[in-house]
Amino acid sequence: MEVDCGRIRDHDIGKEVVLNGWCRYIRDHGGLLFVDLTDRYGTTQLVFEGALKKEAEELGKEYVISVTGVVDKRDSDTVDASNPTGTVELRVKSFKIINKSKVIPFEITEEKEKFLPSDDLRLKYRYLDLRRKKMLRNVEFRDKITKTIRKFFWDEGFLELETPILVKDTYDASGSRTFITPSRMHKGKFYGLPQSPQVYKQLSMIAGLDKYFQVAKVFRDEDPREDRQPEFTQIDLEVSFKDEKYIQNLIESMFKRVFDEVMGEKLEVPFPHIDYLDAMRMYGSDKPDMRFDNVLFDLTDEMSKSDYNIIKKVISAGGRVKALKFPADMGKKSQKIDKKKILELVEIAKNLGLKGLTWVYVVDGKIESDPPSIAASLAGISGQIISKLDAHEGDLVLIGSDPSENVLLAAMSKIGRVVGLVLRQTKKKYAFLWVDKFPLFEKDEVTGELQPMHNPFVAPTEETEGLLDSAPEKVLGKRYDLVLNGMEIGGGSLRIHNPDMQRKVLSKMGLSDAEIERSLGFLIEALSFGAPVHGGIALGFDRVVATLSGEYDIRDFILFPKNRKFESPLDGSPDYVSDKRLQDDYDLSVKNEKKS
Ligand code: AMO
Repeated sequence: MEVDCGRIRDHDIGKEVVLNGWCRYIRDHGGLLFVDLTDRYGTTQLVFEGALKKEAEELGKEYVISVTGVVDKRDSDTVDASNPTGTVELRVKSFKIINKSKVIPFEITEEKEKFLPSDDLRLKYRYLDLRRKKMLRNVEFRDKITKTIRKFFWDEGFLELETPILVKDTYDASGSRTFITPSRMHKGKFYGLPQSPQVYKQLSMIAGLDKYFQVAKVFRDEDPREDRQPEFTQIDLEVSFKDEKYIQNLIESMFKRVFDEVMGEKLEVPFPHIDYLDAMRMYGSDKPDMRFDNVLFDLTDEMSKSDYNIIKKVISAGGRVKALKFPADMGKKSQKIDKKKILELVEIAKNLGLKGLTWVYVVDGKIESDPPSIAASLAGISGQIISKLDAHEGDLVLIGSDPSENVLLAAMSKIGRVVGLVLRQTKKKYAFLWVDKFPLFEKDEVTGELQPMHNPFVAPTEETEGLLDSAPEKVLGKRYDLVLNGMEIGGGSLRIHNPDMQRKVLSKMGLSDAEIERSLGFLIEALSFGAPVHGGIALGFDRVVATLSGEYDIRDFILFPKNRKFESPLDGSPDYVSDKRLQDDYDLSVKNEKKS
């Protein structure tokens, strides 16, 4: 009987079975040789003895073998309670080496301290890294969630539709570039790879396919960041004749199903909401981590009346001052995070470009600091600070200042999150939040031109639509992001379904009529053949899976990811293409590059 390596139990004792797998651990105990044989389903201990033991001595780590043997009970002192097959072992009668393995470049072990290869080494030998149980669990976790989500949408009457990968560059995401690929048949022309299926899902609505979803691979040529990959997966959907509420409810029900069926936990719905402008004002971030209620307090007026000269200088240069309060009784009871941790925060602040970060404590109703000179310079306003923050005995107050409000807000919100994580300030494991009504446009910091904050298809709100000509930067869109534990895990909107409005929004971005026609003429034409009201959302699936698992590195949840520089140490991509091929197939040449 052929079984997998996780199958045999006490009731199989005496049976003859065949197992196939990888030799993970090998231990030579003189007269006996023990091998842990492993596959996707588990690990079984093999025992080689007598003449077979001699033969088995040539086995090496990660050799693939097929064995026939008889299931036996283990001695009570060798039972491994952590392994479901741990009460039995297989006495091997015969075995065959199916394939040898070279010496492995790193240990395949679950023990963290033993597993120290660099990220790139792990990625170069990803197929070995994936043999670790933790990685297998990540793969299985992702598969379970995909299955549950697919089933959910099918149950709701959605069609799973495939959209093209070779497309035109259509501004379907802002701030990132499209990967392009040349065409041999049409020399000098390029396809774009989709940054999202955005335009095609809208066309599907115009086609009358009113409930679309897709587990879609998408591609963005953007600057690397920890939570980004150049290709990633979206749970993408679009519906017709529905409003934001319907879409948000649908996503909440979807997560509820995932929590029920995969996480085995109850999820509270509906999720809380906050408008974008309020989120920025209160938390300094459009993705506040609601596990920690890190409200920012503005202390600009108060600090301008203090004797704290460094901060006063920042204020006179037009800067602002924001403070964060961490209650003494949160988490660890002790009011102080140690100075070493605080200095780490100061370092984080510096790396984020923040000009100044100061920390003080509330002691006996007054501000105290280390060194005391800071508290002394705040003495005149300490009562005002304490009452504005509603601070209590032992509270820690971090005060940040910077001439740039953007830098200040970004740094303070990040610091708030780091402190929250250090102090384990929360019992909440999963904090979802809808952030609504984003501005339609933002100003490009360099050119000053308007660009869409997300994509140019977002419908403006009725209340602000009238400002499109007079004050376009004040126009708000029917756009919503979904945030989980401070990570933006999704975003969507109701779309413009009127061709004139679509043209107008594109022209506000500075596109000429000819450019509009060339890039998105086909969508605008489609909108003029009877477009329903429509809208949708895309979840960044890699981020969803990583965050639900309690981890943050999305690469651990992608089978073959790129490294932090968006290269693949496994296959060596991206790579040069020979001049001859470029020339012959595409009529192209690369300037000043290494030749392959
Ligand atoms: P958006 O551009 O907000 O919306 O993308 C949706 C979600 O995709 C995730 N995401 C990423 N994940 C990994 N690596 C990346 N480089 C990356 N970039 C984005 C984020 C994000 O919230 N077409 C619209 C959706 C719509 O309006 O329906 C879109 O793509 O979690």
